[in-house]
Amino acid sequence: MKIGVFCSGGDAPGMNACIRAVVRAAGSRGHEVVGIRRGYQGLLDQEFYRDVDGNCVMSLRSVSGISPRGGTILGSSRSDEFRTEAGQKKAATILKDQGIEGIVAIGGDGTFRGAMALARHWSGSIVGCPGTIDNDLIGSDYTIGFSTAVQTAMHAVDKVRDTAESHDRMFLIEVMGRHSGYIGVHTALASAAEVVCIPETDTDIPEIVAQLQAMRQRGKTSVMLVVAEGDERGGAVELQQKLAEAGCPFPMRSIVLGHLLRGGSPTAEDRILASRTGDFAVRLILEGKTGVMAGIVGEADKATPFEETVAQHRTIPLTLIDLLETLST
Ligand code: F6P
Repeated sequence: MKIGVFCSGGDAPGMNACIRAVVRAAGSRGHEVVGIRRGYQGLLDQEFYRDVDGNCVMSLRSVSGISPRGGTILGSSRSDEFRTEAGQKKAATILKDQGIEGIVAIGGDGTFRGAMALARHWSGSIVGCPGTIDNDLIGSDYTIGFSTAVQTAMHAVDKVRDTAESHDRMFLIEVMGRHSGYIGVHTALASAAEVVCIPETDTDIPEIVAQLQAMRQRGKTSVMLVVAEGDERGGAVELQQKLAEAGCPFPMRSIVLGHLLRGGSPTAEDRILASRTGDFAVRLILEGKTGVMAGIVGEADKATPFEETVAQHRTIPLTLIDLLETLST
């Protein structure tokens, strides 16, 4: 069987380990893997991965040594053309012409919505691997890239704290997460930040200012506030403005970590998750399954229909936010 693999949407550290797992899991069972470059757009443009000898099939050796590398050797994109029905039909025709009967799509909710659209025009098996730093997918405890993103953000907050303490300042540190506060809450807990603002909870400016004034009275001279980019009051810069207007008792500075969180060598957790889900996705395809994401829940493999993974964003346990408040008093 010929299996295609691609990455789509925002890249995430660990995608390379996932590609490696797909190539090795399929290859070791006698199947061929074709690397599709730049996600759905690359498929439409028929951009296939070629090795140094110009071969289209990814050999077992073609993925040697890629697991520690950040980004994705296949590249990634967000495709406007594929959002159209004409684009989806064209992609289906290309897959048929290429003799590709299975696809592993590594990405997040946008990637899986695309997979559902493709399945309306193509009869092959399409299985997803949870590849996004956001950790917002139903059907897997963690997503590939989340652990690395949190680790990078934690190190950044640790460094910012040094200068905050030297200058008696409060820093607002913005992390990624358009719809999800997972990176924000985990970063805040790991770096012992005092305040976290995320889209899932109400960001009450007067309440935060009262909290900051209480900290000031207790003798605190510096504060770390982590804010998710999708917070309903805005990112770090907007929030700083609103807190200043409401009487924040600390001099403030803002930092946007942004795409920094998507880079770097993946953590062990991300590499292991990527390896497990890549292998699981191939096994699902070989069993004839389609339209599901290969996730890990608890210690077990779990296949979840795409419809369920994208129906809503995974909710963050409020106990984590309570814990943060308890520990910052
Ligand atoms: O979905 C992953 C993610 O990194 C989000 O956290 C972020 O909001 C978005 O991608 C940014 O996307 P882009 O790189 O297209 O601006």
